[in-house]
Amino acid sequence: MSENTVWHPNKVTAKNREDLLLHRSACLWFTGLSGSGKSTIAAELEYRLYQRNVLAYILDGDNIRQGLNRDLDFSPEGRRENIRRISEVAKLFVDAGLVVMTAFISPYREDRDRARAIIGSDRFVEVFVDADLDVCERRDPKGLYKKARAGEIGDFTGVSAPYEPPVSPDITLVNDDRSDVGTHVETIIGYLNDRAIA
Ligand code: ADX
Repeated sequence: MSENTVWHPNKVTAKNREDLLLHRSACLWFTGLSGSGKSTIAAELEYRLYQRNVLAYILDGDNIRQGLNRDLDFSPEGRRENIRRISEVAKLFVDAGLVVMTAFISPYREDRDRARAIIGSDRFVEVFVDADLDVCERRDPKGLYKKARAGEIGDFTGVSAPYEPPVSPDITLVNDDRSDVGTHVETIIGYLNDRAIA
């Protein structure tokens, strides 16, 4: 209920915080199948940014679903609410001046478009981690594809629930068996440089 609430403007602005941190803020929105490499790439990028004195932070689906979003399932509605809440949290992180990385499957285009609208398109960078289903399934780092194939997990993305790839992502990282995490990180760093973000 947002009725009877009034937005309180503060004295210190988002721009003040960016000036303090000496870099700009943005949200890197990673999307891709489970096991595509979103979290691995985000973790390596976070480390590289840290070394460059950039304050970054990762919001990761597997972690957030154990806390803030532990009440949500994997139905289309559960995923929509998952992405909506994370969009709002990411918006706060961007306002705080950080480079925030979100690593969620976020399989529905409509939900990702809403995330872009909430965060603001000038601060939103969609990063498509493009790995084929058979590659993810072969990796199966958590053994979940095996369980999904056995019918032990329902609504599993790629097996019994859809994944809608981005139409025009800002960055596409093809992450097959020959890919190298370091190369992907360089690609993103190059993009952040070009956009004068960090
Ligand atoms: S999202 O679709 O709502 O964006 P999110 O990224 O938060 O998903 O969570 C995905 C992670 O939850 C997967 O990497 C996997 O470890 C786990 N998981 C458990 N059940 C499912 C399921 N039915 N579909 C996809 N991922 C699942």
